[in-house]
Amino acid sequence: MPDQAILNHAAQILAAIAADQRADTALRFYFEGHRYLQPPAKRLISHTVFVYFRWFSWLNPKDAPQKRLEHAMAMHERFLADPKSVKAETLAVRAVPAWLAAEMDLPHDYLRQLQRDPALWLRARPGQRDTLAKSLFACEPSDRAPDALRFTGVQDLFKTEQFKTGEFEIQDLASQLVGVAAAPVPGENWWDACAGEGGKTLHLCDLMKNKGVVWATDRNERRIDTLKRRAARAKLFNYRTDFWDGGSRLPTKAKFDGILLDAPCSGVGTWQRNPHARWTTTPEDVRELSVTQLALLNNLAGSLKPGGRLIYSVCTLTRSETTAVADAFAAAHPELEPLALAISPADAADPSRIFLWPHELNANGMFIAAWKKKK
Ligand SMILES: C[S@@+](CC[C@H](N)C(=O)[O-])C[C@H]1O[C@@H](n2cnc3c(N)ncnc32)[C@H](O)[C@@H]1O
Repeated sequence: MPDQAILNHAAQILAAIAADQRADTALRFYFEGHRYLQPPAKRLISHTVFVYFRWFSWLNPKDAPQKRLEHAMAMHERFLADPKSVKAETLAVRAVPAWLAAEMDLPHDYLRQLQRDPALWLRARPGQRDTLAKSLFACEPSDRAPDALRFTGVQDLFKTEQFKTGEFEIQDLASQLVGVAAAPVPGENWWDACAGEGGKTLHLCDLMKNKGVVWATDRNERRIDTLKRRAARAKLFNYRTDFWDGGSRLPTKAKFDGILLDAPCSGVGTWQRNPHARWTTTPEDVRELSVTQLALLNNLAGSLKPGGRLIYSVCTLTRSETTAVADAFAAAHPELEPLALAISPADAADPSRIFLWPHELNANGMFIAAWKKKK
C-alpha cells in the first residue's frame, strides 16, 4: 500500500481529472508543477491513479478520495495475489462500461488482463535486439515480433544513452505488429496517412532499410514536428511529411505501393494502459469515429498503384470500428481484394483480418485488415 504522501498526491490529481482533464494530461501537469518529485515517487503516484480507474466502479463515491484510493489499491493487491478472487462475471459488469458488451465479446481472460498493470514494450532497430537487451538489462524478447523487447526494469528509459542515440523506440507490441503486417520492401513508395508522432512511420522506414520513401501525413502539425525529431534521433531519412486533413483533397497525386491508415479510433484496445478512458469514452464516440474511419479509407483508396497494398489498423476492438468498417469499405471497392496478412495464423478463417487481443499478447488490443488493388 502506498504511503500517505503518495495517496495525497494521487488525490490532488483526481481532483484535476474530475475537473475534466484526461488522466495522463493531469499527471503530466502535476509533475511539471512538482519538480521535486523523484522518478520512483512519480511512478508510484501514476500507478496509484491508474489502479484507481481500474477499480473505479467498486469504489464508494461518498468516501473521501484517500479512502477510495486505499480501497482501489487493496482490490488491486488482492486481485494480483489471486486473479480468480474477482469473478469474471463481476468484471464484465464493473471493469468496463455497460455499453461495451453490445460492441464486442468480453472473454474472461481479456477482462482479467484489463485489471493488470500493462507491459512496457520497446522496438529495437532491425537486427539489434540481442545487443540492446544485453546493454539495457531487464529485457525479454517476444516471439511475435522480431525486434520487440518487454522491458521489466525501473530505470528512466528516456535518459538512457541507447534512447538518445536512437537504438530503440518505445512502441507497444501490437503497434509493432502493424509494421510487421505491412511488410514494406526497401525501395517502395508508402503513405502513412495518419502518421501522428510517427511511431509506425519510423518502423516502416526502418523495415525499408532507409531506402524508398514513406510519405507521413497528419492533420496535426505539432505531431509531425515530433515525428521529425524522432526520425532525426533514429537517423532515418527516407520519409517526407505533408499535411492531410483526411478530406478528398489529397496531399499528392502520387500512387503508392503501400498505404497504411492507422486511423483515429476510440482506443478501447488501450484500456488496460489508460483505464480512465473506460469512463469517458461513449458509444457516440465509437459511432462518429467509425464514420470518420470509413471516410478516410474511401478518400485514400484511389492512391494505390495496381498491385498496391492497403493496411487499415485501429487500436480498438469494437465491431463498429473494425469489421463493420472493413465490410462497408470492401463492399464499396470491387477494385480491391482481401490480402492475407503475414502475421495471421495458418488456420485463420479470414487471414486478411486479425484481432490482436491484450490477453494473448500482453499488449494493447488492435485490429488490422488488408487489401490489395487488383492489377
Ligand atoms: C492513431 S493516431 C496515429 C498514431 C501514429 N500512426 C503512430 O503510430 O504513432 C491517429 C492520427 O490521426 C490523426 N487524425 C485524427 N482525425 C483525423 C482526420 N479526420 N483526418 C486525418 N487525420 C486525423 C490524428 O491527428 C492522429 O495523429
